[in-house]
Amino acid sequence: MSTPPQGKLALPKLAEMKRRGEKIVMVTAYDAPGARFAEDAGIDIILVGDTAAMVVLGYDGTVPVTMDEMLFLTRTVVRAARRPIVIGDMPFGSYQVSDEAAVENAIRFFKEAGADAVKLEGAGPSLSRVRAIVGAGIPVMGHVGLTPQSATMLGGFKTQGKTAEAARRLVEDAVALEEAGCFAVVLEAVPAPVAAEVTRRLTVPTIGIGAGPECDGQVLVYHDLLGLTEGHLPRFVKRYASLSREIRDALESYADEVRSGTFPEEQHTYEMPPAELEEFESSTRSPSKSRARDQAAKSSSTEANAQLPAPRSEPPVRKTASP
Ligand code: KIV
Repeated sequence: MSTPPQGKLALPKLAEMKRRGEKIVMVTAYDAPGARFAEDAGIDIILVGDTAAMVVLGYDGTVPVTMDEMLFLTRTVVRAARRPIVIGDMPFGSYQVSDEAAVENAIRFFKEAGADAVKLEGAGPSLSRVRAIVGAGIPVMGHVGLTPQSATMLGGFKTQGKTAEAARRLVEDAVALEEAGCFAVVLEAVPAPVAAEVTRRLTVPTIGIGAGPECDGQVLVYHDLLGLTEGHLPRFVKRYASLSREIRDALESYADEVRSGTFPEEQHTYEMPPAELEEFESSTRSPSKSRARDQAAKSSSTEANAQLPAPRSEPPVRKTASP
């Protein structure tokens, strides 16, 4: 086990929050600005979810996203998040094959990307993966209910646990995940009374998404809650902003202004000293005079340089213009 960085919310605090009835706030994020916004908003947990596949990488589902893509995104979030616990979501294929492969990939999230914990989907075969990863010293968050990586087997993106029998199985799965060592369990698209029962039965927190108000915490996908996702959204999403509209409007205004010549204006433009400008303009009017002047300036600087020691290195290159 490693020591958490200073200022980081300690994992055991989550169970304390559950005991105190203090709600846990989790959101997904996939880059440094998103992580910074989440940090500043006082979010407790950032999940670098495999929803990245759809909301940032342009895939149709979560299955195609690779370990390397998830590690890259997780690293960018880790760089910007100080207090929130950062969880790397293990992509499809990274833990299904064997306990050994699961541990190896969880170690990559922990060691190469700097995640504080990992999340994986399902119970059943995932239980021994959880035990193996936790045994290697890496905290694991479980995820039951609608598990998008196995949506095809579940018959699509559908609410889970809707029959008494399915609800009982779901409760058993969540309990088994806690027993296997999970520090928290996500409940996705589960009827509220079933999620409430799971929440009562577990000592570790439940984090709901479409699972009603009685979970110990809630999670939403960053792009969904900010209104960046376009098209159909699940009923459990609440939009707190309409950023895609704002972005589209801004880009259209920019394109219009460039085409009409109203951007850039004087305030976006750099000046030069009037004397230099005058000299520059007169040199562009009579290029032969300016060539002679350049020649003279070059030979006098070569003479001056001959008396100086050779520079030891190139001066640093400025990447941005000065204001
Ligand atoms: O990948 C993800 O974003 C998730 C959340 C929806 C819980 O698993």
